[in-house]
Amino acid sequence: MNIAHWIERFRENDHEELLDFSVPVDLAAPVREELGKSLAIFQLGESGEGSTLFRYAEKVGATSGYEDYPTALRLFIEEEHRHARLLAQMVERLGGTLITKQWSAGAFRRFRKLINIEFHLQMFLTAEIIAEAYYDLLRRHSGDPVITQACGRILKDEVGHLGFHAAFFHSWMSGWSQVTKRLWRLQCQGILQVIKWGVWFDHRRCLTSLGVTRNHFFDRVARAERSFLQRTFMRRLPRRRCPIEMA
Ligand SMILES: [Fe+2]
Ligand SMILES: [Fe+2]
Repeated sequence: MNIAHWIERFRENDHEELLDFSVPVDLAAPVREELGKSLAIFQLGESGEGSTLFRYAEKVGATSGYEDYPTALRLFIEEEHRHARLLAQMVERLGGTLITKQWSAGAFRRFRKLINIEFHLQMFLTAEIIAEAYYDLLRRHSGDPVITQACGRILKDEVGHLGFHAAFFHSWMSGWSQVTKRLWRLQCQGILQVIKWGVWFDHRRCLTSLGVTRNHFFDRVARAERSFLQRTFMRRLPRRRCPIEMA
């Protein structure tokens, strides 16, 4: 893994997205309300400190060839916090309320501490996969120019995040047996199957108000999952184009 490349990329990306949040909201009241609630949940998720991830990164950083991984991970978490700030502005513009706790976010945090660090990491990766699907669907279906722009920026970053994680796990698992890799992959897929239902349950009112069906949401999650797993388990990592560039 070329960690220096990722550090440079995160640093180049280190600027706040300046959007005009004073643009009037032209959405029906129920859509506006559900969007505000849904974005507030993602805002809370993007605000995490990543303390377990840091501990893991420090452990990995003690391994030859991964000394700079904690630096890259710190920059990655800072990028997630930029998303949280952007989301907070979106929620406020919609007249919504920011939250500091929420049942599924709390359950997600408790659930991922259950087994071991691998499980924790896989839970975290599923959240990244779902984030790609969620922001892309909002970008395409919100019907609001500010949300489209903001979600477009976040989506671009999230595609980069999955590339960063794929590059790391591709390299980290290179010495593992095929059986262990297969088990890791199956466990990751299993966790995603559970989590996506929870996310749909929490955000179904928002997504359906935008015309996004459950199948549509699950299909988009599956596309993000396939792309991530292909990149993680391929012999050589291909460059992935952001969906915005392909549109
Ligand atoms: Fe994010
Ligand atoms: Fe992310």
